[in-house]
Amino acid sequence: MTWSGKEVRQQFPILQQKINGKRLIYLDSAASAQKPQVVIDALSSVYSTNYANIHRGIYRLAEEATRQYEAARAKIAKFINAASTDEVIFVRNATEGLNLVVYSWGRSNVGAGERIIVTELEHHSNLVPWQWLAQEQDAELSFIPVTGAGELDLAALPPLLADGRAKVLALSMMSNVLGTIPDLAEIIHLAHAAGVVVVLDGAQAVPHLPVDVQSLDADFMAFSGHKLGGPGIGALWGRRALLAAMPPFLFGGDMILSVRKERSTWNELPYKFEAGTPAIAEAIALGAAIDFLTELGMENVRQHELQLVTYALAELSAVPGLHLLGPAAEKHGGAVAFWFEDIHPHDIAAILDEEGICVRAGQHCAAPLHRRFGIPASTRASYYVYNSNEDTDALVAGLHKVIKLLRR
Ligand SMILES: Cc1ncc(COP(=O)(O)O)c(C=O)c1O
Repeated sequence: MTWSGKEVRQQFPILQQKINGKRLIYLDSAASAQKPQVVIDALSSVYSTNYANIHRGIYRLAEEATRQYEAARAKIAKFINAASTDEVIFVRNATEGLNLVVYSWGRSNVGAGERIIVTELEHHSNLVPWQWLAQEQDAELSFIPVTGAGELDLAALPPLLADGRAKVLALSMMSNVLGTIPDLAEIIHLAHAAGVVVVLDGAQAVPHLPVDVQSLDADFMAFSGHKLGGPGIGALWGRRALLAAMPPFLFGGDMILSVRKERSTWNELPYKFEAGTPAIAEAIALGAAIDFLTELGMENVRQHELQLVTYALAELSAVPGLHLLGPAAEKHGGAVAFWFEDIHPHDIAAILDEEGICVRAGQHCAAPLHRRFGIPASTRASYYVYNSNEDTDALVAGLHKVIKLLRR
């Protein structure tokens, strides 16, 4: 590896400031990652040199904006190894991507009495839309449970596939609470053998792991740009044949081929799913974030985080009364959640904030998962390319302060 977290940190202007006179330690990247200078520059450059609406204007500025927007799409396609660029659709975020699949593919393909499979560790974004679809279509919602060790209990999957009623399996590629990285190859193999479509929530995985949708053999995958150092935008990837057969999700400008008073026909992929003026500058800056990560190397990003999480799990487990959630480091992504019987996560987060440390406290949009572990909430420290073991040392020192202040 040719870089360290400390070196990467230099490229993030926001991390150069002090909070309460202390070095800012950002451990909430699972919620949203900070932005490197190159992304900030890309956004600024679009607005100061080549902003115009895309796919419309017959003038140079508009043509250049269109070229850069489509170049960003091509960068995403390459980053996730999509078979073709038109399989990549710009959306607002992972949530919108998942809703697009549920609304457009789900309503046309899941019927009464059929089964939707999700897991107990899903973020609300990959649970609530499927709950809605199940209610809407009178389908059944089934769950792959989570073991006490924070892994998916895959023994539960074959029985859910056996009766031929399952139509779709939707799951996260990395838990935003437990950090769990499921055995996707095995899961997708079982699902496809039963003719079940696999929808991946890549919100946590795409920023942190090398992802290859073709070798995964997935059907859909949604992710958010803001979690990988880009601005507020996301992308949905889908297999071409599935996307081509789906009805549009939103209707309006740019997604149409022809419009008559009574009827319209739909544009080709991916424009069929991009109604109205998209987030142009954000898409281009997402391309810059992808360039930044590609330069670091996604395999290096994973190795960096593996080292950070191995260290964090060891150091945190020595804090008196601290319970860790989730599996061992090799199956663990960048999110590390923990809890105490006697100290509320909100108190922890507030005291750590005094120390310049940003962590997340609550249920992290995964209420059923916290219920599964019988806890009301947890504290989460989540790591990224700009973190180093020094940040964990500060977190542990902060937790000792919390204990001194609050434990009787
Ligand atoms: C696993 C997972 N899925 C989906 C989402 C939703 O992402 P967004 O809010 O960007 O749509 C998140 C965000 O935290 C997440 O962690």
